Order: sequence, then structure tokens, then C-alpha cells
Amino acid sequence: MLDNHLLWLIKGGRVLDPSQGLDQVGNILVKDGKVAWIKKHGAATSPPDNCHTLDAKGLIVCPGFIDLHCHLREPGYEDKETIATGTMAAARGGFTTVCAMPNTNPPLDNGPTVEFVKRKAQEEGVVRVIPVGCITKGRLGNQMAEMAELARAGVVGFSDDGSPLADSNIMRSALSYSRSLGLPIINHCEDPDLFRGGAMNEGWVSTRLGLKGIPTTAEATMASRDIALAELTGGRLHLAHISTAASLERVRQAKEKGIRVTCEVTPHHLTMSEDWVLGNRGEGSPFPPLGAGAYNTMAKVNPPLRSREDVQAMIQGLREGIIDAIATDHAPHSHVDKLCTFDEAAFGISVLETALGSLMTLVHGGSLPLPTLIARLTWAPAQLIGSDLGTLKDGSPADITILDPDAPWVVDTSQFASKGKNTPLEGATLKGKVMATMVAGTFRYRDDKLKMEQADG
Ligand code: DOR
Repeated sequence: MLDNHLLWLIKGGRVLDPSQGLDQVGNILVKDGKVAWIKKHGAATSPPDNCHTLDAKGLIVCPGFIDLHCHLREPGYEDKETIATGTMAAARGGFTTVCAMPNTNPPLDNGPTVEFVKRKAQEEGVVRVIPVGCITKGRLGNQMAEMAELARAGVVGFSDDGSPLADSNIMRSALSYSRSLGLPIINHCEDPDLFRGGAMNEGWVSTRLGLKGIPTTAEATMASRDIALAELTGGRLHLAHISTAASLERVRQAKEKGIRVTCEVTPHHLTMSEDWVLGNRGEGSPFPPLGAGAYNTMAKVNPPLRSREDVQAMIQGLREGIIDAIATDHAPHSHVDKLCTFDEAAFGISVLETALGSLMTLVHGGSLPLPTLIARLTWAPAQLIGSDLGTLKDGSPADITILDPDAPWVVDTSQFASKGKNTPLEGATLKGKVMATMVAGTFRYRDDKLKMEQADG
């Protein structure tokens, strides 16, 4: 059990808060669940009596990460994940808020199921959980869900994620409703006909492995349609986990035209290419040989891991802000879902606990500035959901993540809080570790190595 107190002084860390352009060594006082103040390190500060101090020297202190897109699997698939285990994984990954996708059983297509998730999260969750409601009843794509009822129940947006919404008339109506409800339609863009039976990205790797490919066009064509419908309706469109240079280009053009579209990208589409399915980590020759780990079902995900060029385009799009936010698409699965042939395996990667470590490879490799990375994990997603979180401004909820950007660690899924051990990163050494996660002034995760002391008084 973590010892928690009403007063914390987080001392001497590099405070990085993109919401206020802050990047300086400083001290943060947390009082009654809120950020009381931030002061420059060395400024005359006398911590109040009974204040507990956490030494953050050499560490980054930033707003808690906000995940726009994860799968907590409850209700219905508790063998894969529960709200308790998924939110614990989130805390370990530095996430203080997660938006839970509605592809549960039953799906979140009515008020009472959404209320159930909220109540469970309150009772058993360790970070904030905001449910996403379905666009269509049962996520079947043929009849709209009661969107107003879902909005009243507190959803943050609407999505049939996992099942792209193919019916253009329903998409048009949903976008029209999104306007009056002020909540986005989040589509998993993939033309079902172009997708049919695909298992990985369509390209030379799929040909080499004899697996049916999913063309990049499957994503781009539906993204184009959705953008056209957002323009027609004036609705709010958010494209989930984009993965291709072609869809990025469509988003860029739409934003230039002032169409209300935003999008997200996952850590894996920023750091892994289709080469990972070949058993090879995307280095060296553009046509590497088949590796010992070929047909690794842990690298099967939807949208699929794309070409190296697509990965570079995603990084560039994120840096430029065409891609608004990073979202994990944490998709935990059980062993039986993955210990099978590549064609039979479920799509999805367990991401919450490796997100920061894998994203830090971009920072260490010089392709993404650290403040940009933090912005896309905090302030940017907060803006998209219209939240007062994602900031350390005085008086805001004390949702804080403390990380060591240089600490190396080895991914060991047996230590995951998540039930989903499905990651192609097993055994990889990552550099960049979450040291503590605080939600509303309460530590929800804290590394044993952090130094703490109590001030006099
Ligand atoms: O890989 C994926 N897994 N992509 C999705 O869109 C759904 C997710 C899941 O629910 O397992």
C-alpha cells in the first residue's frame, strides 16, 4: 500500500508542462489533490508543516498522460483485462486518464452500460476512466445508438472501434449529431472490402510471408470519405490510430481547409514497421532476410504495422502537429488468442506499460523533441476531450507523472499489471521509465527507488 498524504512537495525535477510553455527545474506543491504552486528551484520556499517531500532531481515532472484510446475489456472479456488491471497498467505507464473503448460485451451502446463502467472504475480503477460510447447499436453498423442518452451518461465521444463504420448514411447522421452534442465521432478507418481476410500490411513482406495483406488504401479511402462527410455536416471527426502516409496527407489537406478533423497515432505505428512481422526490427537493408521470430503474432495489430516510410511519415506528422495526439490502442489479449497461427491470432498489442519506453527511442534518436512528446501525451489529448486535465497550472487537479528519461529497463511481461502479455517488445531493453504516477494528489504508482522524506513540523 502506498503511503499517501495531503501535502507533497515534488522537489528539484525538470518541470515540463507544455500547456504553459514551462520547462524549468522547479518545485511543485500539491495540496488537497490540486497543484498549489510551482516555483523555480532555488527560489525561497518554505514547505508547509507536515509536508512530505519527494526528491525528483534528475527526473522529468509533467502532467499525467491522457490516453484517448484503450481497451479495458470490461464488461465481458475479463479474461483479457479488467478495469482494475487495465488501470493499474495505465498508472505504471504514466497515464492518469484513459478513455475506454466500447467493444465490450455487452458493448457500451446505452446509458446503463456506460454507468456500469463508470461505477466499476470508481470502485476498482486506480486512474480516471472516461468511457467512449458506440456509434451504432451493438457496434453492428446498421442502426444508430441513442447518442444523446450516451452523452448524458458521460461518454467522451462515439466509436465502433474495431469495426469500421462502413455505412456512409449512418456516418453522415452520426457526424450531424456530433455537432449538436459537441462530442467527436471516432472512426476506425478501414474499408471492409479492401480489408477482407487481411492479416498484415500489404507489401513485399506480406508477399514474402504468404500472408494476405491489408492495403494502405483501405485506411485512406475511408478517411477521405469521413473527411468529406465532416465537411458536409460540420460535425467533429476524430480518426483513430492512423497509420499511413496517405491518410496523413488527407488530414493535412482537411485541416488546411478548416474541416473539423483531428487524429491520433499509436506508439507502435511510430516505432515499429512491418519488418517486425518478418522477425526483424526494421534496421539495415530494406529487404532484410526472414528472422527467427517471423510470423510473430505479437506483432499482429489493426491497423497493421506499416512500411518504414509510413513510420517516418507518422513521426513527421506528429512533430508538425498534423497528428494531434498519441493514443495507445492498448489491446490486451489472452495467451490462447495469440498462441496460434498468424491468420488465427487476434489483432492487438498490450501497450500501456511500454508506451513511454518505446516512445523515448524517438527522443533519444533525435527524431522527436521531448517537449513535443510530452505535449502530445498530455495537453493535446486534454484539448481534444475538452478537459481541465493535462496541465500543471495552479489550482488544477494534481495528475502528475514523474519519469526518468534515461533509465534502462528490460520488458518482462510477467511483471506487467495488465493481463495482456501480448507485446513484441518482450525482452527488449528500453530507455525511459515511469517512476511515479499521481492522480488528484494521490500516488497510484511509485517506484521503490524514489527518495522520500518528511519535513519538520
Ligand atoms: O489491433 C486492434 N485490436 N485494433 C483494434 O482496432 C481493436 C483492438 C482490439 O479490441 O483488440
